[in-house]
Amino acid sequence: MTSPILEPGPVSKRADKIAERFQAVYGTTPLGLFRAPGRVNLIGEHTDYNDGFVMPVAIDFCCYAAITPSADDKLSVYSEQFHESVEFDLDQIAGSARQHWSDYVRGVAVVLRCEGYPVKGADLLLDGQVPIGSGLSSSAAIEIATALALTSLSEITIPLLEVARLCQRAENTYTGARCGIMDQFVSCFGRENYALMLDCRSLEPTYLRLPSSIRLVICNTMVRHELAAGEYNERRASCERVVKAVCKSLPRVRALRDLTREDLERHRNLISDVDFRRCRHVITENARVIDAKEALRDLDVARLGALMYQSHDSLDRDYEVSCHELNVMVELARKCVGVYGARMTGGGFGGCTINLVENDAVAEFQSKVAHEYKTTTGLAPQIFVSGAAGGASELIK
Ligand code: GLA
Repeated sequence: MTSPILEPGPVSKRADKIAERFQAVYGTTPLGLFRAPGRVNLIGEHTDYNDGFVMPVAIDFCCYAAITPSADDKLSVYSEQFHESVEFDLDQIAGSARQHWSDYVRGVAVVLRCEGYPVKGADLLLDGQVPIGSGLSSSAAIEIATALALTSLSEITIPLLEVARLCQRAENTYTGARCGIMDQFVSCFGRENYALMLDCRSLEPTYLRLPSSIRLVICNTMVRHELAAGEYNERRASCERVVKAVCKSLPRVRALRDLTREDLERHRNLISDVDFRRCRHVITENARVIDAKEALRDLDVARLGALMYQSHDSLDRDYEVSCHELNVMVELARKCVGVYGARMTGGGFGGCTINLVENDAVAEFQSKVAHEYKTTTGLAPQIFVSGAAGGASELIK
């Protein structure tokens, strides 16, 4: 049995198709076209909002945004994925989120305006390839592509790091998800063939070349549990509670990044059992990312893979953000030949796993996992192989 394979296809073909669709929707050619990739995280989960370390990779699946200025003060947006248009009056654009795909566009426009950047009337067409709600950061891809398109119409150039920060803020304040900086950062700064290790405090990236002997295989469980957003913010609150409790006696602790295993043990009586386990995950996960950096530098794929399995177990048992389907997917990977490591990737409660698979073992991995996952859960997974892509870019001017 084979699983559906998602192929992003060549960027140039996609650009031609988008220009054609733009013409059909707006009756003119776009003035600018931008792409921003989704991401998969190799290791370092739920560490970014604790000033910690992450190691994402930008993937070949992108969101595209084509734009042209309009004569009035309105922002019209058409989504190719939802076959739907929305229109915003830029003077009254602020308002509450509607749980709609256009919230991300509106959030970005609101934040840009709040920061004093001009946002002019425009016709915008969005075409997304990143599977939605699968933990591959389709939202960051929409935000970054939108921000680049909207700001391209004014004379002001905003540094890319500022674009990433503004888009994170848009997601935090506008959609209510208190996410960290990882997704927006890698969508901007990913590099072809490299993983990006990010120190989320200094925002200093370290690029690590991925060995050519392995492929990144992404398995979509096809489930997304409803509780995801609320549980995410609750995890973050746990982390903040511990910092608050501990920093009274350890003023150097500004975030969980500053806490050691020993510190945590010594303050155990101040912390609930659940919060203790949440923090243990963050502390051990940060250490795993640092180890993973060494492993990649030494081309030690086996070591990297072992760290990924450990990360998954910690996310499952201590951070409690995995779910039955993700655990099934990781267990299936463990049994396959030529797999070095597997883990859930992204916020959790469904979505995807990331698997490090030897080049020659990919085809067998794919058919075996697809078959056994379907047998166990009744769901047909999407399985795809992605390279490490470059960060957001302009395709036509
Ligand atoms: C989501 C958030 C990120 C990060 C991950 C978990 O993808 O957007 O900022 O916190 O979850 O690592």
